Amino acid sequence: MSAPRILAIESSCDETGVAVVVGGRRIEGNQVASQVALHATTGGIVPEVAARQQLRWIVPTLEAALDEADAGWDDLDAVAVTYGPGLIGSLLVGVNVAKAIAATHDLPLVGVNHIEGHIYANWLTDVGAGEPLPPEPAFPLLCLVVSGGHTQLVLMHDHGRYTLLGQTVDDAAGEAFDKVGRLLGLPYPGGPAISAAAAGAAPATRFPRARTDGPYDFSFSGLKTAVLRQVTGHRERGEPIPVDGIAAAFEEAVVDALVTKTVAAAIDHGVAAVALGGGVAANRSLRATLDERLASEGLPLLVPPPAWCTDNGAMIGAAAGFRFAAGDRADAALEAVPNLALPWLGAE
Ligand code: KG4
Ligand code: ZN
Repeated sequence: MSAPRILAIESSCDETGVAVVVGGRRIEGNQVASQVALHATTGGIVPEVAARQQLRWIVPTLEAALDEADAGWDDLDAVAVTYGPGLIGSLLVGVNVAKAIAATHDLPLVGVNHIEGHIYANWLTDVGAGEPLPPEPAFPLLCLVVSGGHTQLVLMHDHGRYTLLGQTVDDAAGEAFDKVGRLLGLPYPGGPAISAAAAGAAPATRFPRARTDGPYDFSFSGLKTAVLRQVTGHRERGEPIPVDGIAAAFEEAVVDALVTKTVAAAIDHGVAAVALGGGVAANRSLRATLDERLASEGLPLLVPPPAWCTDNGAMIGAAAGFRFAAGDRADAALEAVPNLALPWLGAE
């Protein structure tokens, strides 16, 4: 059989993503309806609002992705969907639409873990049909998954085989960006806003780096408190708040923590390469600093383009390509699992 053409649906949070991906690597269509503008009015995600928007946008996004791919139902070999982790109401929309498509068009169904999707964004390419594919990422691959909901250092031994090396003990990196963005009066989401404010600014201070028990764990809640203290101090003294300088100092502290532990894990585990995934991987400073530090160790860094780092359907199609090839099939009993974890292998 030629490489399977998979329709992939992502609805775990506040982006409605639908894609058509061939062989887990070649994107034929990739459409994302974002709720960013809507959540900017409330300064964050309201789960019920996010779920209603998923319901509103799933069909138009599906139609747009099939249109872009110039594909009809008969051209598809399977339908894949994120079934967790994520917000229950949002997940339910994608899972039930995928199950309905599988039943009505007699297509196999593949359930995908959202985190695995972020990792597999590194397998995606934009090469056209008939053009040769670039080589696949090599194993063992160290993956730093940094999103609004997760911060995990994952050692990937092979397709579908993972060891969790470390993770945040409190806030996720993206969550810290979003909360500090709010403290600084920047628009939602905080990640891109802080990054823009920090660009070219000198850090206003040096925030302390958190100590954690696990060598590859992260902690960002103390940093958030330090920012709050700084902002409150300026306010009490009636001084203007140096927003750009605080943003730069905060970004520097987050990037330093992520880069230091990722480089240490890469060396300790003798990996072939390091891969970034998740919305925070769109951060320019993180990409540049990690690339530089890994290059000095002779290690390559893989980073998807920013549009494949934030939530999208193509990354789910990439992970589904490999799950489908391995014979992984779900059925009508597939349920949304808000706290779904990857099937971790034992510690190394
Ligand atoms: O992966 P994602 O789209 O959704 C989740 O699975 O959570 O990640 C969204 C997160 C948000 O917290 C957002 O602030 C952050 O990614 N983000 C960034 C940047 N772009 C998005 N954080 C730092 N710098 C950026 N440029
Ligand atoms: Zn995500």
